[in-house]
Amino acid sequence: MPEYLHVAIIGAGNLAWHLAPALDNCGYAVKEVYSPDSKKADTLVKRLYQAVPAGDLDFSDSNSRLFIVCIPDDAIEEVVKEIVLPDEHAILIHTSGSIAIQALEYAATQHIGVFYPLQTFSKNRKANFSEIPVLIEASDLSTEEILIRIAKSISNNVKQVSSANRKAIHVAAVFACNFTNHMFTLSKAILDDEGFDFELLKPLITETINKSLEIGPENAQTGPARREDFQTMDTHFDYLEDPAIQEIYRIISQNIIDRYK
Ligand SMILES: NC(=O)c1ccc[n+]([C@@H]2O[C@H](COP(=O)([O-])OP(=O)(O)OC[C@H]3O[C@@H](n4cnc5c(N)ncnc54)[C@H](OP(=O)(O)O)[C@@H]3O)[C@@H](O)[C@H]2O)c1
Repeated sequence: MPEYLHVAIIGAGNLAWHLAPALDNCGYAVKEVYSPDSKKADTLVKRLYQAVPAGDLDFSDSNSRLFIVCIPDDAIEEVVKEIVLPDEHAILIHTSGSIAIQALEYAATQHIGVFYPLQTFSKNRKANFSEIPVLIEASDLSTEEILIRIAKSISNNVKQVSSANRKAIHVAAVFACNFTNHMFTLSKAILDDEGFDFELLKPLITETINKSLEIGPENAQTGPARREDFQTMDTHFDYLEDPAIQEIYRIISQNIIDRYK
């Protein structure tokens, strides 16, 4: 493997936990891992073949050529200003759905990019990268070619997407993943209050997702709002005593009604 493809990862959170071993397994050796909490870097390093923890963001003596910033979105622009790269040939990328490539423009390299895996990652879950879409953006052709090559080595679904389009896709992902999961959390709280197990809803949740994927979400919608059953919606509204949860129920129900009018 050419030396310039050795990798340093800044961040040891949920995504780095899965991405670093995936790169390692495809021959893109991860050599360094940095995290402010050094214990987190130590733990991730143990999952990798050759990596060592980096004590700080000074990579001036590093042999790595690809630097992956894998930290919370709101820290990217500031932290990038602190990273010392070995030379101007280094490639610096981030992994965020919502942050524009321009957030990396203060780096001391012309070679910047984005490598956004469109999936939800948690440390205690397995991730099968081969099925995960990876959305790529790069500042220049040579960086683009390298990022596409790396992405194709771990995923069968690689796309080039601009910052503006990636942001739109990320908004869609927030509705599909984060908001849906929050609905599950609210749903579980109701069952917990009544002494029922969340498992009771498992067949319903599975069928809801399968049906939506098979026939399209707009064709799959059922329920009181879709039927404009105001009597049932009123009883649900009264059952929900928390005004914040009542408001969520009201807004979503009204939006369903409006969409199918
Ligand atoms: N998780 C996902 O599902 C997912 C999916 C696709 C893309 N992404 C993107 O991947 C990036 C990382 O997300 P994540 O979920 O892995 O985050 P995370 O689990 O919160 O981990 C963040 C990592 O960044 C470090 N960090 C926090 N603030 C920092 C700072 N100011 N300077 C240097 N390091 C800092 C943390 O260090 P300490 O804990 O040691 O403080 C930790 O190692 C984000 O851009 C996110 O949008 C995440």
